[in-house]
Amino acid sequence: MGLQHSQGRESAGKMTVSGPLDLNGAQLWPALLETARQAVLLEQVRAVVRAAPLMRPVTPGGRRMSVRMSAAGRFGWVTDRRGYRYADRHPEGMDWPPIPPLALEVWRAVAGGARDPECCLVNFYGEGARMGLHQDRDEADFSQPVVSISLGDPGLFRVGGAVRGGRTASAWLGSGDVAVLGGPARLAWHGVDRIRFGASGLLPQGGRLNLTLRVVT
Ligand code: SIN
Ligand code: FE2
Repeated sequence: MGLQHSQGRESAGKMTVSGPLDLNGAQLWPALLETARQAVLLEQVRAVVRAAPLMRPVTPGGRRMSVRMSAAGRFGWVTDRRGYRYADRHPEGMDWPPIPPLALEVWRAVAGGARDPECCLVNFYGEGARMGLHQDRDEADFSQPVVSISLGDPGLFRVGGAVRGGRTASAWLGSGDVAVLGGPARLAWHGVDRIRFGASGLLPQGGRLNLTLRVVT
């Protein structure tokens, strides 16, 4: 598999892989991808955004998002004045490129036997970008998890419950970290409060990439 876990439990003097950390029901897998694999995935994401350029979408309410987005897979998640939805083409008309193979590998390692993802949303956070609290609920089957992979600068990830306004918990997601929203946490409210721009060396110009994999149908 080649995925590496930095989290371990001391057992007979040897590090053994333990389960994920819990953040309000979200599962966090710190440093699941080691540095060399992060660089491989970054190249695969670069190929995606060459074929399907990043754009700054507007919300149905008309606000331009601070995060830039693209997608890979059978569907891409898009938003504009008409609403949030999955679309089988980029707004500029091209097909979405295939999901990066390494992202698919991560999904299969942590998604607990779920169907393969049909969308890999690509979010790019430049300096000052953030993502407000929201639920991922444009998919048809909430028994399938959402898996997110972070690359580059750390992002402060906040997770609440399935009901808006409840208690939230936060953790920094660093490069190579993976978060899973599944089971009772599948509809958890979540967002990214801020990033530490320039703190990671992975992207030479700074910034944070997040890949969000989902089964859509
Ligand atoms: C998202 O919820 O769409 C993105 C989460 C993240 O950037 O970590
Ligand atoms: Fe989300």
